[in-house]
Amino acid sequence: MARLLVTGGAGFIGSNFAHHVVAHTDHHVTVLDKLTYAGNRASLDGLPEDRVAFVQGDIADAPLVEDLVADADAVVHYAAESHNDNSLHDPRPFLDTNIVGTYTLLEAVRKHDVRFHHISTDEVYGDLELDDPQRFTESTPYNPSSPYSSTKAGSDLLVRAWVRSFGVRATISNCSNNYGPYQHVEKFIPRQITNVLRGIRPKLYGAGRNVRDWIHADDHSSAVLTILEKGRIGETYLIGADGERDNRSVVELILRLMGQPQDAYDLVTDRAGHDLRYAIDSTKLRTELGWTPRYADFEKGLADTIDWYREHEAWWAPSKDATEAFYAEKGQ
Ligand code: NAD
Ligand code: DAU
Repeated sequence: MARLLVTGGAGFIGSNFAHHVVAHTDHHVTVLDKLTYAGNRASLDGLPEDRVAFVQGDIADAPLVEDLVADADAVVHYAAESHNDNSLHDPRPFLDTNIVGTYTLLEAVRKHDVRFHHISTDEVYGDLELDDPQRFTESTPYNPSSPYSSTKAGSDLLVRAWVRSFGVRATISNCSNNYGPYQHVEKFIPRQITNVLRGIRPKLYGAGRNVRDWIHADDHSSAVLTILEKGRIGETYLIGADGERDNRSVVELILRLMGQPQDAYDLVTDRAGHDLRYAIDSTKLRTELGWTPRYADFEKGLADTIDWYREHEAWWAPSKDATEAFYAEKGQ
């Protein structure tokens, strides 16, 4: 049994990870989460108290972080400001959490010689043309576009430097777009599902031709556990499930699964600097560590996700109006 410190464990992917760890291992989880607008304590409801502890706090709070790290066998670092649209509106919290917060954790794991796994994104690699046969690999050069992705790229580089300069025992994973339960309604898929549930038409940025490479959050969790258990120190692993789809086809599928006409959406103002396409080649993770995704059927995973939002209105409703007001101001 290991003691895992999971930062950002009240957010979308971190809470999915906590549920996954409880279901599939005997590890103990301590969640450290600031509970920003994106964190929700209710995402951890139902988890046994003897397996999951919760601490509200900031990853940039060095004394708090040091105390918690000293008691952990490994840190799994999910906490971040995660939304591109917010980073275009107010970049500052992205620097504070993604850069200074990651630095604070790295100093603590360095001091206490604790294993560290850093959760990152495929967005550090920039974007691809729609017809480019190449996908991102671990050797693709960094070329981030947004304030969000540039701070994630910066945090990755800090981790690499702490491995090389100080011998910190760290690994990094860069994953593609996640979907599943507990995702904030600001993000694309839950925004459109909850729009339809509220009688609002889904909103597609630009022409809706941008492509994202979708993976179920539970598959992300199993990949992270695999890297924690078998990954080589200092290595980066790309996580993806061969799930490329353009945004328009995702909205059309949501509309069909929810019994609406497939053209019942609006095209709205595009995102500034909008990355065109992401695509992950996860050969290294699959061949070296033997990982495979379980959610091969996107339509089934999306239908389950729609059911989850239908059944959990009390979880998402408190954020919905403020989120839509934010978008409305920008014509989105
Ligand atoms: P999220 O916004 O849903 O959750 C982030 C969590 O971090 C929230 O609970 C928030 O309260 C917490 N947090 C923010 N600032 C904090 C701070 N200073 N101290 C402590 N806690 C803080 O994000 P997510 O979508 O779950 O993403 C989690 C991680 O996965 C991020 O590092 C993100 O870059 C990465 N990632 C996300 C995706 C995706 O599709 N969502 C894909 C690849 C990688
Ligand atoms: O690729 C991994 C990244 O995926 C993570 O690092 C980020 O944390 C995560 O937020 C996500 O970033 P995206 O910007 O791709 O996700 P988002 O859900 O914001 O948007 C997905 C696509 O949908 C993108 O092309 C923008 C578009 N979009 C988004 C919204 C909210 C719309 O067309 N309409 C919308 O209303």
